[in-house]
Amino acid sequence: MPRVNRTAVLSLLIVSSCVFLLFQLHYYRKYVSKQGGVLLSPDSHVTNRAIQWQVLRKFLALAQRFRLPLFLADTWALALLSQDALRQHDRRVQEPHCSFLCTGRTVLSFAVHASSWRSSPDFLTEARTKGFELLELRGKDPRLSSLDVLSGEEIPLHLLLRLDAYIIQVVFLYERSGNYVWHGPLRLGGAMDRTFAPFTLLDYGRHAGAYDRPELVLTVLDGLDVRVPRNISHFLLQQRDARFLECRFHEARHFLQLYPDDASAAALDFRRKAKALLHLATQTLGSLRVPFWISSGTCLGWFRQCGIISYSQDVDIGIFISDFRPDIVGAFRDAGLSLKHKFGKVEDSLELSFLSNDVKLDIFFFYEDGDVLWNGGTQAKSGRKFKYVFPRFSLCWAELLELKVRVPCETRDYVGANYGSTWSIPLKNWDWKTSPSNVQENGEWPRSEWAELIQVY
Ligand SMILES: *[C@@H]1O[C@H](CO)[C@@H](O)[C@H](O)[C@H]1NC(C)=O
Repeated sequence: MPRVNRTAVLSLLIVSSCVFLLFQLHYYRKYVSKQGGVLLSPDSHVTNRAIQWQVLRKFLALAQRFRLPLFLADTWALALLSQDALRQHDRRVQEPHCSFLCTGRTVLSFAVHASSWRSSPDFLTEARTKGFELLELRGKDPRLSSLDVLSGEEIPLHLLLRLDAYIIQVVFLYERSGNYVWHGPLRLGGAMDRTFAPFTLLDYGRHAGAYDRPELVLTVLDGLDVRVPRNISHFLLQQRDARFLECRFHEARHFLQLYPDDASAAALDFRRKAKALLHLATQTLGSLRVPFWISSGTCLGWFRQCGIISYSQDVDIGIFISDFRPDIVGAFRDAGLSLKHKFGKVEDSLELSFLSNDVKLDIFFFYEDGDVLWNGGTQAKSGRKFKYVFPRFSLCWAELLELKVRVPCETRDYVGANYGSTWSIPLKNWDWKTSPSNVQENGEWPRSEWAELIQVY
């Protein structure tokens, strides 16, 4: 009896497993392989979104409890939000749970003004209690760095929270002199867990960044209270070009030990006037939305000594010719500057020079040519033309004289092209026609066009 039973049970098991296997094969061929697996994915998609939404709900409730005025800074989520309202509505109807905050990515970024980060130990403890794993990244406080002090004090720069394989990034924003906010780069220390998050997918941290202080509004997204920048497209535009370069205080200090700054009344007077002029140029071009960067001696001053070169006697800025607007001249006149000269034309070698309090503001327009950028020079008395050639560069933010200004990100190459390998040695006798390493003769303006192309006031 037991023997017969065992054989019967075994046979029954074999038969039923075969049937089950055949059923699975059939199911697979009919539903999955023919449709390329599409049938299964929406379910897991929805489940993932539900999980992510729960993670976000938990996180935002926590932030609310500690009165942390976080705002959504995630470029993917904000891009979804900035699309038109009708499409937003459609999305909401189709996917009622998590249309904006669940971007299909496993990471989501928020930012917070560091000054509201007072209850940090309690917040971190509570977050752990709620099941979040944390990675806090700290770095040196640049606001305490200057030519006199190189700070060693560390401040929180980024906080990563992980739950159910979702990562929430919190970026800390610090007020900087120059009326802007700054966030630091995200750098992993030696002992840190490099697998904690997909770091390359994070929106923030590859570089430091600088932003205008964003105006925020509280809204409801996917049923959750979230602050967002009032002008989302403006914020996203800034985010693209937010990379910030800290001045090289260490090298600048070394330079100033070798070549102390001129402390004479005339030098101080020039620095004060140059600062006022740079502020005025920032305001004037800002109101026209014309981006500019500090160029020539002004750029060298920032890069080499974190300041203004007192014997340079002018302020130099660069503007891409594609950003030229005819009302630039009028705007500077309205701001109280007088046009000193205008050389060249929009198609070739345009250069404007203004005067304010006997300090000159030189505006060089830059032209693209293959893999280089160049600006022109004109000698008024002879009509000779010059060309200053630079390797291509992109623009970064930097701080000079309590002002957020753009500089070429590849500053060393830019300065090196202009001043040669000895840029780090002060040179008072400078001839703009022969001294620059990157100057080229570029022919002459036809005499018949001088009246138009060489205007001196
Ligand atoms: C939002 O920012 C964009 C881009 O900077 C700008 O063109 C637009 O006028 C701004 N909108 C409002 C309402 O301020």
